[in-house]
Amino acid sequence: MCGIVGVISEEQNAGILAYKALKKLDYRGYDSWGIAISNGKGISIYRQVGKIGELPKKMHCGNLAVAHTRWATHGKVCQKNTHPHASLNKNIFLVHNGIVENFQELKSFLKSSGFSFRSDTDTEVIPNLIELYINRGKSLRDATRLALKKIKGSFAVILFAKGHNYMIAAKRDLPLVIGIAERKKFVASDLLAIAKKARGFLFLSDNEIAEIGNEAKFFDIGSGRPKFKRFEHLAVDNLESYKNGNKHYMIKEIKECPIAMKNACIQPIELLDNTTKEIRKAKKIFLIGCGTSYHAALFGAWLFRSIAKKDAVAVLAPDLKSYSKLLGKAALVVALSQSGETADVIDAVRLARRSGAKILSLTNVFNSTLTRHSHIKMMMNAGPEICVASTKNYAAQISLLYLLANACISRRNYAKKEIFIAAKQAQETIRENSRIARAISKKLANSKSAFVIGSEENAFVAFEGALKIKEVSYIHAEGLPAKELKHGTIALVEKGLPVIVICTKSDDFALHSAHEVKSRGAFVIGISTEKNNVFDFFIRVPRGPLSSLLTAIQLQLIAYYLAVERKNDPDKPRNLAKSVTVR
Ligand code: F6R
Repeated sequence: MCGIVGVISEEQNAGILAYKALKKLDYRGYDSWGIAISNGKGISIYRQVGKIGELPKKMHCGNLAVAHTRWATHGKVCQKNTHPHASLNKNIFLVHNGIVENFQELKSFLKSSGFSFRSDTDTEVIPNLIELYINRGKSLRDATRLALKKIKGSFAVILFAKGHNYMIAAKRDLPLVIGIAERKKFVASDLLAIAKKARGFLFLSDNEIAEIGNEAKFFDIGSGRPKFKRFEHLAVDNLESYKNGNKHYMIKEIKECPIAMKNACIQPIELLDNTTKEIRKAKKIFLIGCGTSYHAALFGAWLFRSIAKKDAVAVLAPDLKSYSKLLGKAALVVALSQSGETADVIDAVRLARRSGAKILSLTNVFNSTLTRHSHIKMMMNAGPEICVASTKNYAAQISLLYLLANACISRRNYAKKEIFIAAKQAQETIRENSRIARAISKKLANSKSAFVIGSEENAFVAFEGALKIKEVSYIHAEGLPAKELKHGTIALVEKGLPVIVICTKSDDFALHSAHEVKSRGAFVIGISTEKNNVFDFFIRVPRGPLSSLLTAIQLQLIAYYLAVERKNDPDKPRNLAKSVTVR
């Protein structure tokens, strides 16, 4: 969730380089930011609440820098809680991603050893623990190792210390990549931050610590033994993303849904064959994910059941543990995650691996933690998704799941053809329906609440549509299966309540529900393959096997225009972060 960066340079430009790299992580969602810079003689720290602003001129000089964007977990959003954090005697300057689960216990221990604290964060125990071990005569590397061994939970840290001309980086469960370039080296939590700057890259493994100065050296945190690691060249050209004349990334990425749908089908043949074989072989398939990826999992399980005739269920990633007795060798776990870094998904995958289950991951980020925990990895190929709310990756997920379900019944080419047809239709409907989506948003902009309903697989699309509306417009929205309405929720229907109805079949049950809510005064918006008098507003989508996905894209459009209408920033919704690496 937080973004962290470290730079060491042979010139006095580390501060500027770290600042620029941090700005590349701007898209992830954060509430404050900070940077510490050493120029060999002194150390300066700059910390600010809010969006990344200008770096003061006096901070421009230095050869070592660590920087951070914070997404508050422990301690409110304020300057004193912003990273970098320093140890009591200002010897260690550290940025941290993760949560120190036992920080209360460590804080009491440090207090009893004479330490005091300046912030309310869990992080501050780390530089202080390191300082404690240095005071006891340990080297910086060993002091850091000992401190990290005491920490419970996941972490990625980058630090430098007074009097030492190198940085230290270490990690457990959260990503850290090191990049080398002419006369400088970088460390970052996200490849995107340093992709354009470095020419060789190396991903730190769990429980590794790196000492990065003139050279980069690697050690095991537990034993302290050296490790040999090699920098590699990576294809990073496609990592950057620009708005290309669009006002926001969200609308740009919605417009990229059609290409994402097509690119999801571009999979190496051998990989596709192998994956199909594993799906066919599995006795039980669990599709897991969180948020939007969970909604894709629900849709995917439905596709696997109805097309491939497989015993497949969708499970919220944190709930997989209640199925632990049902996992085992005959089970296949399909883990969906745009970022590949969602902590709840990775925990579930670890649990499944322990049971002997096979793991297939569908992610959009190359070399993410999830891919490294999977037996089979497929990339979504959706391109960088910068807007916090997931749009084009969802379109890619549904397309790939549709392809896989069909591949199981030897209809791979048919599925590809249908996806390409749907992608063309998506492009047309985005263009044709933008005006009406905007008009709907104007009408709904002052609503307190909205419902989205659909029957069968469209219920999953309704969940996703409601999530999108909540995330970026901050209007309360509830997605539900059309048939469920009469079992309770209809009690909330009153005059003027907006109800968005998804209909993609000729005798779609959702139409009955549309009549039921209309007769109780609801304002009915149909996203449908057919016009109907019950609709006050109507968005047409073409009929076909992927009509439901087309309706999902229309819901994304409505959510986007609602956010704009309500003057929200759709790219960075309040309280949200792009990848949820905390538990
Ligand atoms: C919604 C959204 C989140 C993510 C969820 C899982 O627009 O972006 O709900 O879908 O946090 O993230 P990934 O897919 O990266 O595991």
